[in-house]
Amino acid sequence: MFRIDVTYADGATAAFPAKGGQTVLQAADAAEVPLAYSCLTGSCRTCAARGHANVEILLCQQRVSKDEAFWLPYSQAAARIAPVRRRARLLGFKRASVSVHHLRFAVEFPVRFLAGQYAAIAVPSSDPLHRRSFRYFSMANPPEEDSVAEFYVRDLPGGYMAEYLANRARPGDVARISIPHGSFYHRSGDMRAIFVAGGTGLSPLLAMLRSGAMMKADAPAHVVFGVQRIEDLFALDALRILQNRLTYCQIVVTIGSGPLPSVNDGLEWCGGTVMDGLRQLRVEQPEWVSSSAYICGPPGMVDAARAWLTNQNIPPTQIYNEAFTASGLV
Ligand SMILES: Cc1cc2nc3c(=O)[nH]c(=O)nc-3n(C[C@H](O)[C@H](O)[C@H](O)COP(=O)(O)OP(=O)(O)OC[C@H]3O[C@@H](n4cnc5c(N)ncnc54)[C@H](O)[C@@H]3O)c2cc1C
Ligand code: FES
Repeated sequence: MFRIDVTYADGATAAFPAKGGQTVLQAADAAEVPLAYSCLTGSCRTCAARGHANVEILLCQQRVSKDEAFWLPYSQAAARIAPVRRRARLLGFKRASVSVHHLRFAVEFPVRFLAGQYAAIAVPSSDPLHRRSFRYFSMANPPEEDSVAEFYVRDLPGGYMAEYLANRARPGDVARISIPHGSFYHRSGDMRAIFVAGGTGLSPLLAMLRSGAMMKADAPAHVVFGVQRIEDLFALDALRILQNRLTYCQIVVTIGSGPLPSVNDGLEWCGGTVMDGLRQLRVEQPEWVSSSAYICGPPGMVDAARAWLTNQNIPPTQIYNEAFTASGLV
């Protein structure tokens, strides 16, 4: 028998026994120690923790062979918010850009979630195989909005959700959803915060920026939002509203190729990738160390932005990220 020690982001600690060959998550479950998880297949990264030498480890995949210690990027209270299954009625959907759909569901009963978390949605289908097939999407609305779940969904060629939205979706359709999941959520709003989004990775960041905690906070916010082409842009009105509501909010929008808009509307336009946008942030060198960062989007972008922000001196424990990988089946 081995011993596993975990430290939560709020400083709480727990220790539990584990048999050799068990996954850390199985051992925690047997000992009733709450850890965040979702897919159990190694694709969602919800269970990611930092181990020896600060290396990222997926606890649903990590088999125990010795005593080990892990640092968890979420509080013990957050780990205790267990997902529930609900029926959700599609209120409406529309194209937010050529490559993104926007949809709103009314959820059967009020649900608790933290700004930044996601839901597993079973795409409505008469095919029994697909009725068990869940896709992950992050809520874009603030948790204070009771019984509503709003999503931005990338229009993936051949995607099952994308095909449903393009051809079969009707207002009033009922989907099964499991909510909430994930350890990517907004921490205290009193630190300067850098939000970095690639494509629909903006969705959970919008929930954070729209949340009550952020609205009450006085701390500066900086947003870098990147898309490939101008026609991929979405949610710009939501960003402009946020810029007016928050005490200080710098928003840099990057476009990979083609011309930039010439409008002078408070948003800062930048040609290139989110990495070019990051270099435009008005943050002085001593300010990085007391900032937090939230990064979401494709895995390569998330890794590059994380490395760059670490280089600017943001402590790794103040950087939170979520990579949008393919959902697979849950
Ligand atoms: C925690 C989490 C939260 C997420 N939140 C969102 C969100 O808010 N909005 C959003 O648009 N996406 C989000 N994603 C990504 C989304 O879950 C997947 O892209 C999903 O598979 C799309 O479902 P689909 O039915 O349209 O396509 P699928 O039928 O699942 O896939 C169709 C094809 O595209 C490939 N594929 C699927 N996803 C990706 C991808 N991300 N990159 C490259 N190729 C891919 C598949 O391998 C397959 O070949 C999230 C993923 C995770 C892990
Ligand atoms: S629960 Fe471990 S990667 Fe999804």
